[in-house]
Amino acid sequence: MAWDDTASKVWMDGEFVDWKDATIHSLSHVVHYGTSVFEGIRAYNNENGVAVFRLKEHVRRLFDSAKIYKIPIPFTEEEIAEAIKDTVRENGLTSCYIRPIVFRGYGELGVNPLNCPVNVVIAAWEWGSYLGEEGMANGVDIGVSSWRKPAPDTFPALAKCGANYMNSQLAKIEAIENGFDEAIMLDYTGYVSEGSGENIFLVEDGVLHTPSLGSSNLKGITRDSIIKVAGDLGMEVIEETIVRERLYLADEVFFTGTAAEVTPIRSIDRKVIGIGKRGPIAEKIQSTFFDIVEGKVEDKYGWLDYI
Ligand SMILES: Cc1ncc(COP(=O)(O)O)c(C=O)c1O
Repeated sequence: MAWDDTASKVWMDGEFVDWKDATIHSLSHVVHYGTSVFEGIRAYNNENGVAVFRLKEHVRRLFDSAKIYKIPIPFTEEEIAEAIKDTVRENGLTSCYIRPIVFRGYGELGVNPLNCPVNVVIAAWEWGSYLGEEGMANGVDIGVSSWRKPAPDTFPALAKCGANYMNSQLAKIEAIENGFDEAIMLDYTGYVSEGSGENIFLVEDGVLHTPSLGSSNLKGITRDSIIKVAGDLGMEVIEETIVRERLYLADEVFFTGTAAEVTPIRSIDRKVIGIGKRGPIAEKIQSTFFDIVEGKVEDKYGWLDYI
């Protein structure tokens, strides 16, 4: 994250303001109670222009997350999609990461959010690979966290809500302190859920397996893309509950996510996975994914929204 982006403009409630002015009051509801829903979106620079990846689906999920928490977004989905593209344009960005966030702002300070205003902010900045270029090529080292994902009747996993990431942070901090690149979290019943900010896939005898949506995981848009791409490559993909030890025994394991894109995993809990580096299926999925976003093959899915 480039925190020296002082020349950038941030979209705030319908207008662009300077990066340094994109501030809120410290007594805003979101600061105290984590009352936000947000998205992480990537745009890619390719031969045909700058393309936002699956813009409609990200905006849809933002509105879905807001619906769950009764946060009325004072713009239409089309207006937010246009504002996202405008933010990339306004900042002259090409490949970048885009962060729209909707939150309860300054009003009353009690748990009840309903009387607080709803604010919408969109920022964008240049961002490389989340878990490092080296990790993309050779795989990353992962630990299974002692922290679990919340049960479905506590924090709804399908809402991409700011407060969820306090839970993710516990796992991420633990992973880093233990010398890992990232954490895998189990759900409240002990089945594999996801990374602190990524979905996860296993490869067993050429078949892909990923935790089904009942495992307290986010309905990842990259996850959905990989399920479709793998299917079109002739691979079987099974969504199911997955026990922890299958992670260790899999031929390959990889993460998917907007930030992480497709990141292979080479070890879990210091056990070597498969050949101990990016495996052939992760490589195929990764290269197909990048061929699509980089415009090297036809966008037959209609996933690229050029700005
Ligand atoms: C907890 C969590 N799981 C999965 C994902 C991957 O979702 P997507 O592919 O939509 O970015 C993310 C990233 O947004 C995440 O934060």
